[in-house]
Amino acid sequence: MHASMLEEVVQVPNPYPVVTEMAYPDAWRLCEQARELAWDPAKIDFTDLITAELPDDVRRAGAEWWSLRAWMEHGATPYGAERLRDAIYSHQPFEIKQHITNFIMEELRHHEASFRIANAIGAKVATYQATPQADYFQMIIPRFHDEKDEKAMSFFAGLAVNTLFEQISGELLQARHENARFASIKEVCKLILRDEARHIQFGRVIMRRFFSDFPDSEKTMLGTKVSKKLRGSLLTGVYAVVNLPEDERKRSARNRTLAMEYGLGATHPDEEIAIIKRAIDKVRSEIAPYGVTIPRIPELDG
Ligand SMILES: [Fe+2]
Ligand SMILES: [Fe+2]
Repeated sequence: MHASMLEEVVQVPNPYPVVTEMAYPDAWRLCEQARELAWDPAKIDFTDLITAELPDDVRRAGAEWWSLRAWMEHGATPYGAERLRDAIYSHQPFEIKQHITNFIMEELRHHEASFRIANAIGAKVATYQATPQADYFQMIIPRFHDEKDEKAMSFFAGLAVNTLFEQISGELLQARHENARFASIKEVCKLILRDEARHIQFGRVIMRRFFSDFPDSEKTMLGTKVSKKLRGSLLTGVYAVVNLPEDERKRSARNRTLAMEYGLGATHPDEEIAIIKRAIDKVRSEIAPYGVTIPRIPELDG
């Protein structure tokens, strides 16, 4: 063989043995539910948003808000892809790979439903924003997708990082579901919540099965990573606006408030911190028995 041909051979780790014996029936049960409860964002009727009587600035604010939600949902897909790759090359059993594949697919359909809402709210006035328009977001993106800590952890600890956030995302979405006055948005929030409930359950499976065995260093890393991710990216416009630069915080808080006032499935910025605080305290009480603690977060813990 020519040297040039050898150079073209892409080096990949060994996927064998490919394990099919079931090791985690509780994870498999979630996979069965995912199959039974699949849904299609393209089949949801968004006409109620397109034809609604909404001022132009509200349409723009709503399109911006649902674009941000769409990016947030999309953020879970590269994270999932990294975990799936790890699962394949660490020879995890089928049900683990199936759950992660479902997770990626589900987060991608949350993304799809969100950008469809952004376009429908925008109608002729605005559209889904493919790229964040605010400069600050360009700085947040690399932090949001920083894999350094996950890569340093064992497979199930890396997988656990996201599952701890599912609880918080779920609580925020619950409030946004309650705010929604349009049938299409309500339906989307309900269907996303149903998927997220499964993601939260998977987190509990990991907790029950693996948390006790994590070495102390990994328990510390897990808690620190959660705090870091919250402060560095999620409280900086994604979950809440609290850590944004002053002018951008005012601007996006105003738009978020507008979207909330018109029942577009948003929350008032003042409400968000309390919701996140409640959710993180719940997470803390669930992980405490395993010796995992989330360090103090000044924005939430006062
Ligand atoms: Fe999601
Ligand atoms: Fe999720």
